[in-house]
Amino acid sequence: MMKLVLATHNKDKITEIKALMQELPVEIYTFSDFDHFPDVVEDKDTLEGNAEKKAREIFEITGMPAMADDTGLFVDAINGEPGVFSSRYAGENVTYADNREKLLKEMSDIPAEKRDAVFKTVIVLIVNKNEKYIVEGCCEGYIGVEEKGTMGFGYDPIFYLHDSGKSFAELNVVEKNKISHRGRALQKIKKVLEKITK
Ligand code: IMP
Repeated sequence: MMKLVLATHNKDKITEIKALMQELPVEIYTFSDFDHFPDVVEDKDTLEGNAEKKAREIFEITGMPAMADDTGLFVDAINGEPGVFSSRYAGENVTYADNREKLLKEMSDIPAEKRDAVFKTVIVLIVNKNEKYIVEGCCEGYIGVEEKGTMGFGYDPIFYLHDSGKSFAELNVVEKNKISHRGRALQKIKKVLEKITK
């Protein structure tokens, strides 16, 4: 069975990734399986750059195939913010709630028809020194004017889907994975993993 380390400390992401990877012949390791597992600094200006940096550092430290995702929320009406820096939108060491509050405030004057937003995830999988895969997934929606729902994490309570009018935080992990940016990217990396573990 292939061993795979998830290069993240984010337990919410780990839950979503594990839910989709269940039936693969892959043994998943996370930070809690290691004594030394650094929090990789995300200092690149693209999702791909940050995802690759995280996967490569963890691959080099553990010597095992490593996979990382980097995600951003892009809102056209405010020049693509919060964008690549979505996790630090309200500043350093802030909570998910701080970031949501700042985004709602920044968008308080923006009318309903201009609140479109897109979540993008890039996943980088480093299998060995010479084998690397990159995939991405997107999900379109809009930023609501208030929070709704209690599931998920991050910006989920204010990110709404056009079709159902539900926020991501009103979906359970299985429902969210079917349509989300990360779920879509994971479906693609799953196909890669199926191929290389055959
Ligand atoms: P990163 O990929 O960990 O850098 O995430 C960037 C920011 O987007 C963080 O603030 C996350 O909380 C947020 N984020 C990442 N994925 C999701 C998601 O699936 N839903 C809502 N927020 C997310």
